[in-house]
Amino acid sequence: MEASKRRKVIMYPLPFPGHLNPMIQLARIFHHRGFSVTILHTSFNYPDPSHHPLFTFRTVPHNNEGGEDPLTQPEASSMDLVVFIRLLRQTYAETFRQSLAAEVGGGEAVCCLVSDALWARGTEVAAEEVGVRRLVLITSGAASFCAFAAYPLLRDKGYIPIQDSRLDEPVTELSPLKVKDLPVMETNEPEELYRIVKDMVKGAESSLGVIWNTFEDLERLSLMDFSSKFHVPIFPIGPFHKHSYNLQLTTKNTEDHVITDWLDKQDPQSVVYVSFGSLADIEEKEFLEIAWGLRNSERPFLWVVRPGLVRGAEWLEALPSGFVENIGQKGKFVKWVNQLEVLAHSAVGAFWTHCGWNSTLESICEGVPMICTPCFTDQRVNARYIIDVWRIGIELERSKINMREVEKVVVSSVLVEEGDRIREMCLKLKERARVCLDKDGSSSKNLDKLVSHVLSF
Ligand code: UDX
Repeated sequence: MEASKRRKVIMYPLPFPGHLNPMIQLARIFHHRGFSVTILHTSFNYPDPSHHPLFTFRTVPHNNEGGEDPLTQPEASSMDLVVFIRLLRQTYAETFRQSLAAEVGGGEAVCCLVSDALWARGTEVAAEEVGVRRLVLITSGAASFCAFAAYPLLRDKGYIPIQDSRLDEPVTELSPLKVKDLPVMETNEPEELYRIVKDMVKGAESSLGVIWNTFEDLERLSLMDFSSKFHVPIFPIGPFHKHSYNLQLTTKNTEDHVITDWLDKQDPQSVVYVSFGSLADIEEKEFLEIAWGLRNSERPFLWVVRPGLVRGAEWLEALPSGFVENIGQKGKFVKWVNQLEVLAHSAVGAFWTHCGWNSTLESICEGVPMICTPCFTDQRVNARYIIDVWRIGIELERSKINMREVEKVVVSSVLVEEGDRIREMCLKLKERARVCLDKDGSSSKNLDKLVSHVLSF
């Protein structure tokens, strides 16, 4: 038993898969190092505790006691993401303070709170009130966080709000980003987006440490850039999901077996795996262009069409009748997959992705080349790094999606020489991701530092 056995870490994830998954992986890392972990979780999108028997779960209730959760009301489902995040933060601000106070008063010594960076200043105030040290988990990469931190400068210099006439202009202060790569998103309330970002950056700056799901060899310059501007200890200890005790923990359901059986029947590196993560949505017109482009490419594909991906549709009903049957075994539409397993399968030759940070890291760790179609915020920065810095992917801009372009890009991604050059770079980066978790690798050493840091509180 390590000295830390009786110390408790409280974790507070944001209730979306791209944020919850890395927080749970981090929780396992803490647990493995001898800490007990309590996860405070919003009543909205509550994860199933039976899947995570190592941790104690406590519900943070919404603020409408005895009534409906404001986040599950019809008006919430039509909000844009920025407005939804404001509602999320309002809904849980006060109840989180109460839940944290109850948890801290509960007897077992609490050594720190680890909260998602997007909860930001709300958790800062709550932690100060009860005298708990606070670290933040940034679930996006270091390069994109530095771009978020540069918002004031980007506004002063007129880069944002973005003007269509400047999309391809380089942002010299944030090389290699172009104006179109800046981490913004369409919203009815741009000022609210600025507030959320400012708050997130301030919340990280005032914390006692930033935990990052990235690794030094991948983002050294961005991490140095962050450290030169913010005097907060940083702990890049990723990729989280590749720490040994996170590897054994995948559970399989029937659908996963069906997908694996189908992948087993495909040629090596022949399949295009398509997924746009857990939040992005697309127009029906885009959905159809993608579907026809995939079909016309005649490459096998596995496409995660999450319910909610296609605006206004339940699932696949926009496809012409007979479309799925005609494709037969050549292509598969699914609602959700075990992405880690799919990317690790030898049949997968390319990942067409929205470039969410988790997806990016997961693809890097398996050496799979990417087709990059970022949708919003950090995904745009990640895409530029994938294409121009790490050189492990090709671009398919969302505004240029049509069936012919899709067909061309899909075919080139799994076949021609360009694909091979990219594949070589992918394998090199995969190896670097592996080495950082060796005993003397940077992420392992940073994890030791993180544990010492937390134990020093
Ligand atoms: C969003 C942002 O895009 C991301 O950059 C940020 O860091 C977190 O919030 P999301 O859009 O969901 O996340 O994308 P991503 O970061 O890629 O996370 C999606 C997660 O869901 C990944 O861990 C992926 O493995 C998982 N997933 C996705 C599945 O397990 N199955 C699926 O079918 C699709």
